Amino acid sequence: MYNEIDFDKIDINAEPPVNEPDRQYYFMAKCREWVWEFERENKRRPTACIQTFGCQMNARDSEKLMGVLKAIGYQEDDSEKADLVIYNTCTVRENANQKVYGRLGFLQTLKRKNPKMKIAICGCMMQEKDEIETIKKSYRFVDIVFGTHNIYQLAELLDRQIQTQKQTIEVWTDTEKIVEDLPNQRKFLFKSGVNIMFGCNNFCSYCIVPYVRGRERSREPGDIISEIEHLAADGVIEIMLLGQNVNSYGKTLEKPITFAQLLQKVEEVEGIERIRFMTPHPKDLSDELIAVMAQSKKICRQIHLPIQSGSTRILKRMNRRYTKEQYLALVEKIRTAMPDISITTDIIVGFPGETEEDFLETLDVVRRVRYDSAFTFIYSKRSGTPAAEMEDQIPEEIVKERFERLLMEVQKISSELTKKALGKTELVLIEEQNIQNPEMVTGRLNNNTVVHLVGGAELIGKIVPVKLTEAKGFYYIGEGCD
Ligand code: SAH
Ligand code: SF4
Ligand code: F3S
Repeated sequence: MYNEIDFDKIDINAEPPVNEPDRQYYFMAKCREWVWEFERENKRRPTACIQTFGCQMNARDSEKLMGVLKAIGYQEDDSEKADLVIYNTCTVRENANQKVYGRLGFLQTLKRKNPKMKIAICGCMMQEKDEIETIKKSYRFVDIVFGTHNIYQLAELLDRQIQTQKQTIEVWTDTEKIVEDLPNQRKFLFKSGVNIMFGCNNFCSYCIVPYVRGRERSREPGDIISEIEHLAADGVIEIMLLGQNVNSYGKTLEKPITFAQLLQKVEEVEGIERIRFMTPHPKDLSDELIAVMAQSKKICRQIHLPIQSGSTRILKRMNRRYTKEQYLALVEKIRTAMPDISITTDIIVGFPGETEEDFLETLDVVRRVRYDSAFTFIYSKRSGTPAAEMEDQIPEEIVKERFERLLMEVQKISSELTKKALGKTELVLIEEQNIQNPEMVTGRLNNNTVVHLVGGAELIGKIVPVKLTEAKGFYYIGEGCD
């Protein structure tokens, strides 16, 4: 295990090992020497800041990157004035890319003031050839560029950049490798994401993820359980199992296992009190999974079930592989097994060819399912995906108008639903001090709804009973009860 590694015992004058994770331990040991030198010169340790864009996968990757940096001796800093700034990027929609370039310009001005500053950029955007070309041409001040498959190599790339002092680029198009036993630095002490699989094979026609995250690979159940046991021993009580389509977990393993079977194993880990997962694809959500959830004491009563569109015609063009009727039947089945479950979703508006009738089908599903909350997105054209080639792209004004109508409907329903629990006392896992009011803390119900209440930092990481006194649309104000 990583925790047992003694870096001082690694001979950094020898050739680097070929096998992982030993190779990375070797480079971490080498970078530590460099950090000591920095410390001697500057009378302080170097600082590192990671800015994360995008989804939970990226958030977890950033924790792994910070784990490596801490092992090397960096001090965590949340300001972009740090000695090393890493942007972990997302490219799922176009505006995500533009944001990154805007901020890189700002980093350049900081680097002029601190020429020793290092800038690295990684994540999904870096898996696109055009973006790497842009960085090579117009952003020479970026020191390290690496892709989603190269996250585990951070120490090696840092060492290479320090040795060569040149822009260092390492982006693999795909990999079959899963490197275990590397450090990570959790953002929250009491909860953690756990990758169960990487990549995606679904190729929904609008989506860039399969191109930037590669083919689907599942981790061995033994590795996942051992990670969760270590997390539990370290004080974690809530875990979120992560994968682009958790329903296909385990299918390609030498000894296949279903996602539902994995959940049962996770449930047995002592100390874990809440289990969440993201994201199940509606096309292959099994009866077995519903049964396991319904019986479970730890799996949260919440399911994120992205619909994307309510029109069967559009769903076909999206390559989602379910119809409106199949989706509604699935929701029915889930609700019959767990009447109190909260269902959330993702919806895309303005997919090529979407007519007013198609959009009304989406509104119809929203009204029938009554989602607790929904992430609504305006369709964004991603070059390289089949949908980008479709001819009937929808004019912006029409999309915006539909988006507003959808948002109003979603908000209306979600605020009606939150009113239902008003006055009840529910268990809340307190997560952090309230950002706006330091006398308050913020936590989540089992169904993931946010609750703010008066309370101190000593409550963070605890599950406490809270009376829900005010429903504010998609969150509550509550009162702690002793
Ligand atoms: N694997 C998950 C989703 C990952 S991406 C799933 O299948 O549900 C998260 C969400 O981003 C998607 O559910 C979709 O609603 C949205 N999204 C993906 N590509 C998009 C695009 N090109 N334009 C707009 N939204 C998109
Ligand atoms: Fe994208 Fe579809 Fe894969 Fe989700 S399942 S990541 S939407 S291709
Ligand atoms: Fe974005 Fe990559 Fe996640 S494209 S949504 S960060 S998998």
